[in-house]
Amino acid sequence: MKSRSETVSIVGMGYVGLCTAATFASRSIRTVGIDIDEARVEQIRRGKAPLHEPQLDTLLKQAVKSKLLEATSDISRAFGTDTTFLTVGTPSQQDGSIDLSYVKNACEDLGNVLREKRGYHLVVVKSTVVPGTTNGTVKRFLEQSVGKKVGSELGLCANPEFLKEGTAINDALHPDKIIIGSNDKKSANRLKRLYRKFYGPRLPPVILTSPESAELVKYASNAFLATKVSFINTVANIAQQIPGVDVGTIAEAIGLDPRIGGLFLKAGPGYGGSCFHKDLQALINYSKNNGYDSTLFRATEETNEQQSNKVVDMAEALLGSLSGKRVAVLGLAFKKDTDDIREASSLRVIIQLKKKGVHVIAYDPMAIPNTKKQLADQIGYADNPYSALKGADCAIILTEWDEFVKLKPKDFQACMKTPNVVDARRIFDPEEFSQLNYVAIGLGARRSLRD
Ligand code: NAD
Ligand code: UGA
Repeated sequence: MKSRSETVSIVGMGYVGLCTAATFASRSIRTVGIDIDEARVEQIRRGKAPLHEPQLDTLLKQAVKSKLLEATSDISRAFGTDTTFLTVGTPSQQDGSIDLSYVKNACEDLGNVLREKRGYHLVVVKSTVVPGTTNGTVKRFLEQSVGKKVGSELGLCANPEFLKEGTAINDALHPDKIIIGSNDKKSANRLKRLYRKFYGPRLPPVILTSPESAELVKYASNAFLATKVSFINTVANIAQQIPGVDVGTIAEAIGLDPRIGGLFLKAGPGYGGSCFHKDLQALINYSKNNGYDSTLFRATEETNEQQSNKVVDMAEALLGSLSGKRVAVLGLAFKKDTDDIREASSLRVIIQLKKKGVHVIAYDPMAIPNTKKQLADQIGYADNPYSALKGADCAIILTEWDEFVKLKPKDFQACMKTPNVVDARRIFDPEEFSQLNYVAIGLGARRSLRD
């Protein structure tokens, strides 16, 4: 590895680490990607992403071929790099509070490697961590294992990540902002210099702040987005009670007000994914420990938890008792274009359907292997939407895959025993589907022409 050009290492090759590594390499920055999971490392070495993310496989192949990305399980390879990003997971503990064990281990492992290093090394916390973690746990564990204080030779920054799954590469290449939290100018300037190299003239707005503010920006951002989803789902549940009202129109209209904005106003079965629930819980817990109980964020979570009941209620309203019925679940991933099912609303809905004695047959273009790991043979799996629908009493749309958007009323009529459709993602045109027994989140009953 050349010594003069800026080099980075990234500890944790999950969604964030791997997408960050692939995009760094795509901008000719030499990158070492480190993970403790040997199988994952081996797969990355072969240029194959261990997760489904659009554009990632292509970037990864190029990065490995050009030797700009080296994947390894040997953390000592971080020694020769200038900057190390920590992108390990920060899951929830039983009580919802943040579990920092992966962060602590990564700091210790990295610190031991940096012990003998002469010259400046910058450590950047990209994992989502509660305020005070970078200057507290991370600093303490690093200083202990490196054997020197953060300062002239050891830099430390908080630099949260805002990418979304399904569009992660595009988000990493075109972020709306970069947040750098640091205690000193040297570390902040080093990181800004790296990003200047990465983005060139297209450097997004950079906000320089304290590590604690940077950490809270991340939680505030996810909490706001999650609250916006719970807000529109609340409006959807109200809209559904009013004949002739459609939440889509309400969202479109309120979204035109720039103070509200049109994004994240899509009503659905409730948010899923690896972060909203975990981060809201971590923030609620952190805040409570500091003496403030956030009523708003608890309501955001409670509203989300209840939204899956609404979906099951809709199926029940169409079918009467669900016991012994065959229900086709179309979509398992927590959103389209990913194979991730972590906290997916599909799982909450399926669990309730199972409790009611339903025979569930599911189809998803990407997420079946991950679902099988979790639900095994508790449900049936289909190879395509048509075989899922075959003989079904009801279909529930739980992910907005393009493949499902293309389905026509006749597909449901031809395959199903009775064409009862619950559109929990609002992917179909209610007019077009009016010939079926079609109900949708946030769609009030149609008015009869005489009204
Ligand atoms: P992930 O679980 O997909 O990946 C974490 C990786 O770290 C795993 O591959 C694991 O094997 C590895 N790892 C754990 N301990 C390690 C160690 N000591 N050394 C080397 N590797 C180690 O996690 P993720 O979804 O990429 O999330 C990482 C962090 O980024 C979390 O804090 C998360 O909240 C945050 N984040 C995630 C997203 C997202 O879309 N997934 C977006 C923004 C921020
Ligand atoms: C979210 C944030 O959008 C990212 O900025 C953040 O970096 C990331 O969490 C994180 O910290 O992990 P992600 O979970 O990948 O990204 O996906 P989103 O697009 O935010 O969707 C989250 C959930 O909300 C999905 O289940 C989605 O279907 C749902 N959603 C989203 C709605 O129901 N309606 C909407 O209008 C938008």
